Amino acid sequence: MPNIIFASSKGGAGKTTAAILLASELARQGKPKNIGVTLIDVDPNQHSAKWALKDGCPDNIELIQKADEESIIDDIERGDEQSAFVIVDLEGTASMAVASAISRADLVIILCQGSQDDADEAVKTIKLINRQSKVLRREIPFSVLLTRTNPAITPRTLRHIVGELNAAGIDIFKCSLIDREAFRSIRSFGGTVNDLNPKEVSGIDKAATNAHAFTEEVKKKLLESQHNLRSIANG
Ligand SMILES: Nc1ncnc2c1ncn2[C@@H]1O[C@H](COP(=O)(O)OP(=O)(O)OP(=O)(O)O)[C@@H](O)[C@H]1O
Ligand SMILES: [Mg+2]
Repeated sequence: MPNIIFASSKGGAGKTTAAILLASELARQGKPKNIGVTLIDVDPNQHSAKWALKDGCPDNIELIQKADEESIIDDIERGDEQSAFVIVDLEGTASMAVASAISRADLVIILCQGSQDDADEAVKTIKLINRQSKVLRREIPFSVLLTRTNPAITPRTLRHIVGELNAAGIDIFKCSLIDREAFRSIRSFGGTVNDLNPKEVSGIDKAATNAHAFTEEVKKKLLESQHNLRSIANG
């Protein structure tokens, strides 16, 4: 516990990259305290598993690969037993596996790039979360994470999308993941942003700061929802 689920019914939205960045940063922070992370790959394309199997993956990340709709609940329970954090990387379609994983989420992070298609698919994912909430009669906390943003400018379309999400009362991460070569690099070469060679990749410090800020905001959201749960339980 807690279970953090990365979802978006749109392929290529940035789920795997964000899941890897969070797993790496939590593992880095947890290492001195023997705190570990389980990373569950539920996508048939196994993109996060491919990263975790490359050299340089932190040794306190336990990978569960080839999870599917039949195994996912057991996989999440196994992750809960063995690690302090469970991170689930989902496929980019709506499926039984996606619905099952969401049902166990303490936080669903919905990836959205600055296009209307991404925003529309984010809303579809939110509708699925809301249906699961009704079935289970419990709140499933979720938040939209903007990714591949430009640090220098916020294009008009992105401003419009953020306005629409705000108007609908949908929670959006304060930080976004910037479009960075460092984030692409770890997917190709393995390892973590902090281990990249500054002679080979530019902007490593900024990328590491960005991944850290994202992780801190995830931790804050998890604490807030636990606090809300405790308040309800205590009447
Ligand atoms: N913040 C970022 N900076 C730079 N490149 C990024 C970033 N986020 C994602 N990408 C790139 O965009 C592509 C798609 O990202 P990613 O694989 O994370 O998406 P996904 O939602 O997991 O896709 P799929 O639905 O196929 O599993 C990848 O090539 C990745 O390197
Ligand atoms: Mg993926």
